[in-house]
Amino acid sequence: MFETLSREADDPLLALTPLFRADPNPAKVDLGVGVYRDELGRTPVFRAVKRAEAHLLETQETKAYVGPEGDRTFIEAFWTFVAGEGRHAAGVQTVGGTGALRLAAELLRRSGSSRIFLGTPTWSNHSAIFAAAGLSVVTYPSFDVAGQRLLAGEMISVVADKAQPGDAILLHASCHNPTGAVMDDATWAAVAEVALEKGLVPVIDSAYQGFGTGIESDAAPLRRLLDRVPEAIVAASASKSFGLYRERTGAVYATSASPETRDKLKSHLVTIGRGAYSMPPDHGAAVVRTILTDPELRTDWRTELDDARKRITSMRTILAKGLSRLSPALAAIATQQGMFSLLPIDETRIVELRHRRGIYMPLSGRINIAGLNSSQAPGVIEALCAHAAL
Ligand code: LMR
Repeated sequence: MFETLSREADDPLLALTPLFRADPNPAKVDLGVGVYRDELGRTPVFRAVKRAEAHLLETQETKAYVGPEGDRTFIEAFWTFVAGEGRHAAGVQTVGGTGALRLAAELLRRSGSSRIFLGTPTWSNHSAIFAAAGLSVVTYPSFDVAGQRLLAGEMISVVADKAQPGDAILLHASCHNPTGAVMDDATWAAVAEVALEKGLVPVIDSAYQGFGTGIESDAAPLRRLLDRVPEAIVAASASKSFGLYRERTGAVYATSASPETRDKLKSHLVTIGRGAYSMPPDHGAAVVRTILTDPELRTDWRTELDDARKRITSMRTILAKGLSRLSPALAAIATQQGMFSLLPIDETRIVELRHRRGIYMPLSGRINIAGLNSSQAPGVIEALCAHAAL
């Protein structure tokens, strides 16, 4: 039976990492998968994470199951980190942000929703996650790559025109992956109005909080949206904000004003997780819980996250200046936010840059600016100017 299977293609983004590792070029630069790197090219474990882990090692007395919803203190503290004080939601811990999105997709389907609207380009895994849960994925263009411009008006009119009550719409909380484009307040407000008018459920992917302009300011649009719409789902990841990538730490939250509905929502999220993996892993959530509930660790973690963001911002300034020679539109890299920007380069040149210059980026043209340091930046700019020829 198994021989009837055809081989699946490797994930185009994740397949870059082994290629990069195998490249003997000492000057190679990894602008691929979205992990933060410091000036020395390392993805360090946050100091606060190390200290929380030391504390857990000392104090943890059992590895018995935490329970199907996960760590309640983590779920609540992480919700306050994302949504601020005083907002109610049904939340469960998940296997990373992807697990949160998958539970969100299953919850939508169980609630009678059958379609989700995705602005493209978007994270390369979004479509697959929602499709795997049986939703139809409707895409619409939301970014002009050559002009480095968000298609705000077009986005709103497509959704207003095509979406039906009960459909879902995917939004990036901040630090858009892959474009870095910033959705201004007026566009967020317009999205909220369309969602309200048409009875749509916003699904907000929050994976880069703290990497845009700050922990609180990055979450402000999401919080305003939650105040405006009666129902929403937030898929939140701790991978980047706490540097816990491999620990697969996240949570999904569904909002409703009714405590009875929240109770039902939680029961569904728990049941969906139970049927998929039974219970989420503990370690990452225990680390985040320890940091968020200890004022000293929390302050130290925030300082380190702020420093990471400042480093990315300074790389953005350098890249924007250098690449605006290629195209004036690329000056926008300086004001885009988060780890990524999307360059208008064709696949042939991306492969050429990989083979001739050791610069690794996915074929989409996305670059992980957090993967660049100040000693590599001039060489990368020179190579892009020489090979990209926009
Ligand atoms: C990325 O977009 O690079 C990250 O979210 C990692 C991933 O899983 O794709």
